[in-house]
Amino acid sequence: MASPAETYESYFVPSIFAPLAQVVLSRAAPRPGERALDLACGTGVLARALAPAVGTAGRVMGIDLRPGMLAVARDRAVADGVTVDWRQADACALDLPAGELDLIVCQQGLQFFPDRAGALRHVHRALAPGGRVVFACWRSIEHQALWCDLLEVERRHLAALGADADDAVAPFSLGDAAALRTLLSDAGFTDVEVEAHTLDVAFPAAGFIRSQYQAYAAVMPQLADDPDAFEAFVAAIEADTRALVARYTRGGHVRAPLHTHVAVARR
Ligand SMILES: C[S@@+](CC[C@H](N)C(=O)[O-])C[C@H]1O[C@@H](n2cnc3c(N)ncnc32)[C@H](O)[C@@H]1O
Repeated sequence: MASPAETYESYFVPSIFAPLAQVVLSRAAPRPGERALDLACGTGVLARALAPAVGTAGRVMGIDLRPGMLAVARDRAVADGVTVDWRQADACALDLPAGELDLIVCQQGLQFFPDRAGALRHVHRALAPGGRVVFACWRSIEHQALWCDLLEVERRHLAALGADADDAVAPFSLGDAAALRTLLSDAGFTDVEVEAHTLDVAFPAAGFIRSQYQAYAAVMPQLADDPDAFEAFVAAIEADTRALVARYTRGGHVRAPLHTHVAVARR
């Protein structure tokens, strides 16, 4: 059976994170020769896209907390023939040399950090003067119709897994544009701009619920700690969401808009 990180790569990346990487790249505008970091790189879709843009004169580092995500990132980079320096580290305790990077990007990672302000201070310090950052963070759950509807059902079943409903909203927990702007300004960044962007995502309808939660388990390991409890959880949610999922299904795909903020700033 595929690991949560492999399911994340095969299921979430094509529908969500690869299209988002193109949005982040267009805001980051990487140039040949630049030194770039993809923070909370996951399975590395953004780092892999950065590598050809900075070219052989530049370099790309990918940092993530979870070894399982980095293992998939390494394999995919080899398959794609790109060179990325993958490192396992906590974004809240980064130990990077000061002033060595031109560009730091982070898509859908900052909201998971327990010490967001501390992580941003490390990021600021690691940038060369004039260096840029791009952070993408989902807007709040009330803007995300499909996930908001799913959450109503999840709440009833998460307790059986020993998980908290707050775990399910963690991806949407930094959804306020003003809060994102203030975090960046307080960390010392200038020229802070936050824009809203919408991705129209489509997931294959077959196995939608199972795949969603298997991929979620890559960032919420507590979901999959007990395989029997996880199976019961998936079966219960599938049974309770049939009508809901049908409402979002067209042409064999579950379709919904997914709204994000994209923040750009410089040191
Ligand atoms: C939703 S995923 C996004 C991954 C990747 N940026 C992408 O676009 O596919 C969130 C990532 O944040 C990582 N993460 C969470 N907390 C972290 C921390 N404190 N330090 C570094 N990475 C962290 C997780 O391991 C996970 O890979």
